[in-house]
This record gives sequence, structure tokens and C-alpha cells, in this order.
Amino acid sequence: MVPVIISGGVGSRLWPISRASHPKPFIPLPGGGTLIRRTYARAAGLASVDQIVTVTNRDLLFLTADEYAEVAAPGVKNTFLLEPFGRDTAAAVALAALQVAGDNPDAVLVVLPADHLILDKAGFGAAVAKAAAIAATGRIVTFGMKAESPETGFGYIEAEGDTVLRFVEKPNAERAAQFIASGRFFWNSGMFCFTARSMIAAMQELCPDVLSNASTALEKARTSNAPDRIIVEIDRDGFAAVPAVSIDYAVMEKARNVGFVPCSFDWSDIGSWTVLSTLVPADDNGNRTTGETMLHGVTNCYVHSEDRLVGLVGVSDLLIVDTPDALLIAHKDKAQEVKDLYNRLKLEG
Ligand code: GDD
Ligand code: MG
Repeated sequence: MVPVIISGGVGSRLWPISRASHPKPFIPLPGGGTLIRRTYARAAGLASVDQIVTVTNRDLLFLTADEYAEVAAPGVKNTFLLEPFGRDTAAAVALAALQVAGDNPDAVLVVLPADHLILDKAGFGAAVAKAAAIAATGRIVTFGMKAESPETGFGYIEAEGDTVLRFVEKPNAERAAQFIASGRFFWNSGMFCFTARSMIAAMQELCPDVLSNASTALEKARTSNAPDRIIVEIDRDGFAAVPAVSIDYAVMEKARNVGFVPCSFDWSDIGSWTVLSTLVPADDNGNRTTGETMLHGVTNCYVHSEDRLVGLVGVSDLLIVDTPDALLIAHKDKAQEVKDLYNRLKLEG
């Protein structure tokens, strides 16, 4: 089994602690560690893993390697496929499948997003083992999570037994509500399992431009080998020609005979302050705080303070994130819109 960790994107909804130079997988978690460190440990803990492939931006190599070094994974060889810029997840998956196919086209890969939080390692391991058995028969496999609310940021899967009937990426609010009401849909976890050969064949049919341009960019890459690590610097010009599209739109919505594993382990895509705040236990007034804080007559607030005392009086439902160079104050219901602030900052700042 070859775990493939995909890590890209800024996590702009978690500004100001997540930013281009220090994105979401690297933010310190209230419970200790970082998302990427935990993802790596989870990958290394799977059955028969001797290689882990990481696809990420080249500026993040050292940050990533430092995080991995915090987790002992003896005997695991790291392959880093370094992108000059993001071309979304179809490109990242194509690079990984092509790289692994060079050694063994029948190797089973499991794609793991770097920004998921999963606490139940045994449940996760059992689901991956089930998926790997289906993948070995030549099918691409998805993992379905219990769909709890009409979220529009997820893919939706309708399945029967171990087969996907329908995969709909990021439906609009109305459709998402219909899917939830029907009780027949799961959320797509964003993890996938397949042999290198079957993913390459699916891409050849469904998104040949992604595959052929990723292949050229990989052929022209500069590779350096060390005893415990391979670093592959993907060619900039070749990669620029790869269309930017996600694996969900490019492959999963269109592929036939997709395998399905329903999952019951806890799982969250740490996408916004609302989700991150739930990692901190609430007090009797519904307040969650990290760092030095003083609250008086305050309810249902989240306060993150890094290096000074933050005091609040008589307020409710606020997100307050204080860092050395930026302070965020937002209404809890508007946590998704932190992204818009970040985008304005990038344009104006
Ligand atoms: N290497 C690399 N390059 N990784 C990338 C890139 C890229 O250009 N773009 C995104 N990623 C990584 C992200 O860091 C994340 O770990 C993962 O790929 C998924 O990308 P997101 O941008 O977070 O996708 P999403 O959350 O909108 O949607 C996906 O995940 C949902 C569950 O969290 C889809 O698979 C949905 O169907 C799914 O429900
Ligand atoms: Mg995500």
C-alpha cells in the first residue's frame, strides 16, 4: 500500500493563523501536533507501508519534512513530488499514480488529504483495508461519510452495496437539501483508493489532457535521491500546461464501476474556525478559549490568543483570533466569509 498525501491550498478561511507561507496543514492544533503530522502518522500506521508519496508545493518541502521528522516511521521511504504551483487535485493524483506506476503499476495507492482530522485510527485502518481489497480488483474506491447537513462544500455519493450509483461534487444548496432529505447519500471523504494502473486508465479516458501533461511534467522533472528520500521537482513549463481541475470533477463524477466503502470513524475537514474551535472543550457558557483570556458576561465565543491577554466583556457569538501581527474579530455565523477578507488582503495588501 502506498499512501499519497496531497497538500496544497492556503486554508484562507483560517486566516490569520493560516496563510500562504504557513498553510492550514501546519497550524498548531489545540490537542497538540499539526494536521499534516497526524496525517503522516496515520499513513505510516497503515498495513504494509514502505513508501509514502507526498504531493505538495515546492516552497513547503522543508516545513513538511520537519513535520514528518517529528513522527517516527522507521523503514518508510518518502517521495516528495514538488509542484511549482497548484494545478488542483486531478494533477496531483496523476503525478502520484504515474510516479508509482514507474516501479509497480499494480501497487495500491490511497490518497489522503493533508487537512483532515481523524481520531479513530483503528476504524480508519479497517476502512482502508476494505478499500484496498476492492481496489486490487481494478476499481477506483471512494469512502463515504455519514452526511449530516446540507453542506455545499462536499461531494455527495449515492451507493448500493460496494458500488457508487451517483457521485455529485459540490451540489447547490437546493440539491444538497434534497440529497439529505432522501437519506440515501453519503459525503465524499476526499480520500480515494486505486491501483496506479486503474487510475491512469481512467484518466486516459476521462481527462487525457491532465494525464498527458502531468506525464510530460514528470518526465522532465529533476530528481534527487537520498537513502531515505526521493525529491522530484516537477517541471514548471510542463506543469503549466496541465488543466486545473479537481479529481472529483475530472474523474469521480464520470467514472463507471466505482467502489464504495461506508465509514463510521470520526472525520472532519478542518475548513473553518467553526470546525477548528470544536477541538477546544467548551465551558458552561459555551465559550472555548486557548491562550491567556479573561471573560466577563460572555457566551458562546471562541477566543484564540497567542502571546498576550485578551479580555472580553458582555459579548456573544464572536470568533476572536489574536496573533502577533493580525487580529480577527468575526461573528460566528460568518466564519465562512473570513475567506473573502483574506482574498481582499491579497488583492489590496
Ligand atoms: N498537491 C496539491 N496540489 N494538493 C492540493 C491541491 C493542489 O493543487 N489543491 C488541493 N489540494 C489538497 C488540499 O490541501 C486538500 O488536502 C485536498 O487536496 C482536497 O482539496 P480541497 O481544496 O480541500 O477540496 P475540498 O475540501 O473543496 O473538496 C474535496 O474534499 C471534500 C471533503 O473534505 C472533495 O473531494 C469533496 O468531494 C469532498 O467532500
Ligand atoms: Mg478540503
